[in-house]
Amino acid sequence: MDHIYLDHNATTPLHPQVLNAMMPYLTNQFGNGSSIHFYGRQVRSAIDKAREQVANLIGAQNPSEIVFTSGGTESDNHAIKGVALRQKNLLGNHIITTAVEHSAVLHTCEYLEKHGFEVTYLPVDRHGLISLNQFQETIQENTILTSIMYVNNEIGTIQSMTNICSIAQDRNITVHTDAVQAIGKIPVDVEDLGVNLLSLSAHKFYGPKGVGANYVRRRTRLDNFVHGGAQEQNRRAGTENIAAIVGMGEAAEIATRDLQKNSDGITKLTNRLRNGLKGKIEDICENGHSKYIDPGTLSISFKSVSGEMLLMRLDMEGICASSGSACASGSVEPSHVLAKLGLPPEVAQSTVRFSVGITNTEEQIDETIQKVTEIVAELRSTRNSSWV
Ligand SMILES: Cc1ncc(COP(=O)(O)O)c(C=O)c1O
Repeated sequence: MDHIYLDHNATTPLHPQVLNAMMPYLTNQFGNGSSIHFYGRQVRSAIDKAREQVANLIGAQNPSEIVFTSGGTESDNHAIKGVALRQKNLLGNHIITTAVEHSAVLHTCEYLEKHGFEVTYLPVDRHGLISLNQFQETIQENTILTSIMYVNNEIGTIQSMTNICSIAQDRNITVHTDAVQAIGKIPVDVEDLGVNLLSLSAHKFYGPKGVGANYVRRRTRLDNFVHGGAQEQNRRAGTENIAAIVGMGEAAEIATRDLQKNSDGITKLTNRLRNGLKGKIEDICENGHSKYIDPGTLSISFKSVSGEMLLMRLDMEGICASSGSACASGSVEPSHVLAKLGLPPEVAQSTVRFSVGITNTEEQIDETIQKVTEIVAELRSTRNSSWV
């Protein structure tokens, strides 16, 4: 069976050009970047090139502002804990984030709360936007950091990052954004935005898993997160994962080059899916913002349908999407994001996230529309869904 992959927000397939770029560093070019001999120098220059490629992708002024990490989760941890620990005794202990962040940010903030920090979790509206007025009012004398995601991974809503940055900067507050779901989908320019710190993850833009980066604007005050050797300009210790870093660099270069083309193509396919489903199925609603949304994310709630059941049936038909719920200890809990949008549990549990990517085709979208339509009709007629 040929599978249809509509879960690009979970991860993306490796671009063939990225694999090619990585291969020498998994074979002949095996040196340690800290060695001063031939083998070391070879990989050092590959890391330098990747750093430039990533800097270029996000408009960083200087490649030295890029710190390679093990992925989005580590980048978020580094940015938030790094600023919190450095600035606590200098400036204060209050952090502002949102209630709909990825767990890499939420759980980091919860951890800091246990260690003497005060955290405000901003609420969002029905489609996931924070209120800028509320953000402004939440700022206190002791606020040191705001960490607000650029694009939400479950519903695709884009926050107004430029406004968030200008409000925060007026009050001398360090700004971090988790841009893991923004990269390769919408333009991201750290100078235009004005952020101090920005997290990226390669596997969300056709690069390898287990590698990411943090943008750290010069003069940003933050502690190191991983201690040890002097790698990454003394900011992140540990022998570099050269092949992965090279892969991330290559993926960054392709994402920079193809941004407009990819975004146009994905928007077209997502609109086809959106309009197809809305045209054929009654009683469905979309959870992402109608205007501020990334090109590929479509979170839809299907009235009187179990999202889990729909996903399982789609999987049997070779269509891979994702649920708006997370299984925890045997029970299906609605996702925190959908709950914070104010969706009643039965609506949250009827939600499926489709995330479109560059390998999808119109034929795949049409087949998905047809299969979803059939399965939803069947589930509704048999009321197979136990909780709706
Ligand atoms: C918004 C967001 N932040 C962080 C992460 C974590 O990234 P990684 O898988 O590279 O640790 C993800 C991954 O799903 C994400 O979607």
